Amino acid sequence: MSSFIWDEKYDVGIERFNEEHKKLLEILKDIYTAMENKKDKVALAQILNKLLAYSKQHLAEEEACLKENKYPDFLDHKKQHDVFIEKMTQFCEDFKSDKFSLHFEIAIFLKNWITNHIMVVDKEYTEFLNSKGIH
Ligand SMILES: [Fe+2]
Repeated sequence: MSSFIWDEKYDVGIERFNEEHKKLLEILKDIYTAMENKKDKVALAQILNKLLAYSKQHLAEEEACLKENKYPDFLDHKKQHDVFIEKMTQFCEDFKSDKFSLHFEIAIFLKNWITNHIMVVDKEYTEFLNSKGIH
């Protein structure tokens, strides 16, 4: 479970985004823990919804900052966020309508997307935002 604990490999150089990424990792960990403990559907749906709501809020804040500072790759970055939110919204709806039970593949997808996005795509804005005085 160590990969759910924030460390330097997730450092994007912006304090408030690091804090928000910590929170995202915590919610992801809750999903894994709930699945391992075989929590019921209601409990899982609640955590999944929490991850969706917090992802939306966090990604919107990142986008606002990137847009405001005229980040050159803003549109590409936003596109990645949009695709993720679309996919997650679909998971939540399918889960609620009993189309599938939340299995580890979905949890792994969510974890991989979020951690890869932080370590690869988000880190691309570090130098740019830092140069604008945002830390
Ligand atoms: Fe991002």
